[in-house]
Amino acid sequence: MTTITTDPQTASGDAPAARVIPLCSAAQSACATPLSIAENPCFVRSNDWVNAEYKHLVLSAPALALTARSGQFFHLACPASNDDTPYLRRPMSLYCVAPENQRIEFLYKVQGAGTRGLAQLAAGDTLDALGPLGKGFTLPDTTAGGHVLLLARGVGLATLAPLAHAAIAAGARVTAVLSARSPALMMSADYLRDAGANVIIVTDDEQTSDVVQVESLIRRVHAQQPITYASTCGSNRLLSMLQRVASQLGIPGEVALEQHMGCGIGACYACVRPFRKHAGSDELSYRRVCWDGPVFDLQETTSW
Ligand SMILES: Cc1cc2nc3c(=O)[nH]c(=O)nc-3n(C[C@H](O)[C@H](O)[C@H](O)COP(=O)(O)OP(=O)(O)OC[C@H]3O[C@@H](n4cnc5c(N)ncnc54)[C@H](O)[C@@H]3O)c2cc1C
Ligand code: FES
Repeated sequence: MTTITTDPQTASGDAPAARVIPLCSAAQSACATPLSIAENPCFVRSNDWVNAEYKHLVLSAPALALTARSGQFFHLACPASNDDTPYLRRPMSLYCVAPENQRIEFLYKVQGAGTRGLAQLAAGDTLDALGPLGKGFTLPDTTAGGHVLLLARGVGLATLAPLAHAAIAAGARVTAVLSARSPALMMSADYLRDAGANVIIVTDDEQTSDVVQVESLIRRVHAQQPITYASTCGSNRLLSMLQRVASQLGIPGEVALEQHMGCGIGACYACVRPFRKHAGSDELSYRRVCWDGPVFDLQETTSW
């Protein structure tokens, strides 16, 4: 059983104090660094459409939420709207964190009961964000002076955006290959360019996004400057291709997975999926995406 207490130390800025969730000693000892997870009461600063399908949610958040890293996520208690009453929380990747002004941000596709509820939020409303949750990206030691590839499609753009910032801050060159159905649905390109990434856009409408073309694009990018780490999110086809190319070229990498979730904190096993025991192995191990991930080694991940 988890107990919930109020930690006044986590109060900051405009947001009220987070309710810290103490974890059992087994959970703590399974992790290299101490875990802090809280129900963070956040205030909505803005919640605007960025295109016909996606909204950008900006929250004032308590201090603990501001420790979130790229690849981690929050489990959002989406409000009811019209006939929708989302029972479970919905997982959303961290899109941006700005500790200096107590801000966390999400980019989400409005598609079901949960995100329709999120879409109703307006400035001044409150939202409970459980987190930060999961294991984020781990940039390798070769990042300074290295070349980081981000390969994202759909909601994967939201997940990989903070990784671009982390890699650039660590001294890497970043190439972001962003894939979408149409130019109108492309997001984050300017945001990533402003961060210093070299952005390459491919779309279905322009017939530049099929796997064969993206593979040759990545091989060209690698030929210009060897890629030292590759990450992907948002497409099974791109994941399979990147696994193959990265394996051939000897590039280490990671993938951020999406999976239906219940608790989000490792307790219900709703998010279990098979992984290779290690890269190249035919033996499978079963892991919880919420707790052991959602970021996993590129070559240990099985496609779906
Ligand atoms: C770690 C993590 C991070 C995520 N980050 C983002 C994000 O940054 N932005 C974003 O828009 N979405 C993100 N998602 C996906 C989002 O959580 C789901 O789409 C969520 O179910 C939406 O809730 P809903 O009630 O609106 O839609 P639902 O009614 O739950 O689902 C709508 C449709 O999406 C499908 N679906 C639901 N959940 C998943 C899933 N986990 N994987 C694949 N298909 C699913 C359903 O089968 C259905 O077809 C993330 C998921 C995970 C696990
Ligand atoms: S969602 Fe409950 S264990 Fe992952």
